[in-house]
Amino acid sequence: MGVIIGALLERAPRETRVSLVPEVAGKLIRAGARVMIERGAGERARFPDEAYQGVEWADPASVLAQAQVLLTVQPLTLEQIQGLRAGTVLIGFLQPYARRDEVRALKDRGMTSFAMELVPRISRAQSMDALSSQASIAGYKAVLIAANQMQKFLPMLTTAAGTIRPAQVLVIGAGVAGLQAIATAKRLGATVEAYDVRSATREQVKSLGAKFVDTGVSADGAGGYARELTEEEKRKQQEVLDARIAAADAVISTAAVPGRPAPKIILRGALERMRPGSVIVDIAAEQGGNCELTRAGETVTHRGVEIVGPVNLPATLAYNASEMYSRNLLNFLTPALKGGELAIDWNDEVFAQSCLTHAGVIRHEPTRKSIEG
Ligand code: NAI
Repeated sequence: MGVIIGALLERAPRETRVSLVPEVAGKLIRAGARVMIERGAGERARFPDEAYQGVEWADPASVLAQAQVLLTVQPLTLEQIQGLRAGTVLIGFLQPYARRDEVRALKDRGMTSFAMELVPRISRAQSMDALSSQASIAGYKAVLIAANQMQKFLPMLTTAAGTIRPAQVLVIGAGVAGLQAIATAKRLGATVEAYDVRSATREQVKSLGAKFVDTGVSADGAGGYARELTEEEKRKQQEVLDARIAAADAVISTAAVPGRPAPKIILRGALERMRPGSVIVDIAAEQGGNCELTRAGETVTHRGVEIVGPVNLPATLAYNASEMYSRNLLNFLTPALKGGELAIDWNDEVFAQSCLTHAGVIRHEPTRKSIEG
């Protein structure tokens, strides 16, 4: 008959994305699965119900009660988890570090859950890397927000009314979001410099045509992520960065350390040296922000400098964000679909490492430790 793969209308505030777009639903059906969707699930991402061909429609409670694989964008609520059928495989951004009660409930109900945040960043899994696909959207959108808030052009203009100098953009954190921010700001004609604690980013920044800010500090950590810096390293980094922040018309900050609060990099002192009319777009707002004055979901103005703390930027580009996320899910799920039925290979490191809960156990060790001690 084929495994039943379900998708719901996301109900979290500000969430407009959908986990299953019509193209991916069609591919799953052609692979032998049944697809069950709540009406209107794709509406806010501009995928009307009519675009979904060959799917079965159901009310949300029925999707929860019948889906054998449930694809979500945001974590399910405790109430939704109670409504899941036994043995359901849940796949989505499950926020293992933040949603402790929900992780516990998934464990207690014996659900098999995979967190897209935990997919290992190996070459083979790049097409499943939802953190990356969504981060690149955030980086792109952050620059557009900055451009929109600024009272200056980004590009250099030579006009009959004289020459306009290009805006100076500083990108802090040159991971996936930061690199996309650099590329976007460059395309719009700004002069761009960027900074990251990981030394590997130097060449990546340069290859995008931006200047790398050298502070003389490197914080290469395990698995390609950054480690936390020592006090002395932080002070040295800060001095150099403060001067670059003060010189910028726009700062896009994206610095993050997985599972930790975002590092505070834009301090009040440096911010107060910025020219009035300058803009900070702090993509790390939801993790506490890279700027001391950031407030998630708000725009704060301090001495003429605007500090934007965007929340869920990918949802502001819901059509493409959903397309990319949905394809990530398809690529994740495909190796486990055999003749339309689900068969997870637990020896596959992608499944083993991204598994959050299974058979009454929290499988992801850092999450288990933080929840169960
Ligand atoms: P992230 O969102 O965790 O962090 C963003 C950036 O902030 C990182 O580049 C990090 O080094 C930087 N950062 C942290 N603390 C900082 C500080 N105090 N000052 C300045 N910058 C700071 O990282 P993201 O974008 O998720 O990528 C992390 C790593 O994973 C990168 O090395 C990236 O190349 C790698 N990666 C590998 C993939 C693969 O091989 N399949 C796919 C995607 C990313």
